[in-house]
Amino acid sequence: MSAYNALAEVYEWLISDAKLTPAEFASSFDDVLSLLPSNAHVLDCSCGTGQLAVGLAGLGMHVVATDASEAMVRRTAELSEEFRASVRTVQADWQELPDHFDDDTFDMVFCVGNSLHHAEGARGRVAALESMSRLLRRGGRLVLTSRTWELVRARGSRLDISDRLVRRNGRNAVVVYRWDIAPNWEDEHHIEIAVAQVDTAGSVLARSELLSSWPYRYEELEVELHRVGLQTEMSTFNLEAENYMVVASKV
Ligand SMILES: C[S@@+](CC[C@H](N)C(=O)[O-])C[C@H]1O[C@@H](n2cnc3c(N)ncnc32)[C@H](O)[C@@H]1O
Repeated sequence: MSAYNALAEVYEWLISDAKLTPAEFASSFDDVLSLLPSNAHVLDCSCGTGQLAVGLAGLGMHVVATDASEAMVRRTAELSEEFRASVRTVQADWQELPDHFDDDTFDMVFCVGNSLHHAEGARGRVAALESMSRLLRRGGRLVLTSRTWELVRARGSRLDISDRLVRRNGRNAVVVYRWDIAPNWEDEHHIEIAVAQVDTAGSVLARSELLSSWPYRYEELEVELHRVGLQTEMSTFNLEAENYMVVASKV
């Protein structure tokens, strides 16, 4: 149920102010990018609307951007055209990636912006990570960012309504997240996201989508990375922070 085709239309309202442009999005990964040669081959395997992929291409890298959502892939191709960037786009679920690319192809694979929880449970997550690992060359790195699901689950089911209007493309919107937290970690959870644009005449245009989610504990993720041949090289995991980044290299 993680289609993202409705949210693709309004996705800019969900991206933080600091990461709106391709250059800003890519520069939020400056530390890991400094580990790459300038002509590196990189894959963003849940590219969303393409800011990271286009930003990486702007740095001179050979970039492939994939996503399960057709609308997201289309938006990435449009952004790439707008910036005259050279990004190859492919619609592919994580598990389909080995059908499109040879093993040992990429120097770095990105799976960022809280995407991996859409993989169906531990089995789906390991299959997704396995695909990403296969495509990395030996010594290549997976860069993964994640919500701290331990915090999300501890807060329980709730409604989060943005406390300020979010302004994008000259339009204001209220952003709402409805968290439906299941009793057990391994159960399917749901997140409903709504972007309600309000115009000056007071009309409201709402777009929303119900997404499936399978949260995971950090310790599970570490074990799963190891299972697919990846070794954690760096992690910012901290139980008090909302998000973390893990960099894992292929052994
Ligand atoms: C929260 S968005 C993050 C997008 C982008 N990485 C960012 O940081 O803005 C999650 C993305 O994961 C994609 N996604 C969900 N399930 C997927 C799957 N099974 N295979 C590949 N991509 C998937 C969605 O289509 C969506 O674009």
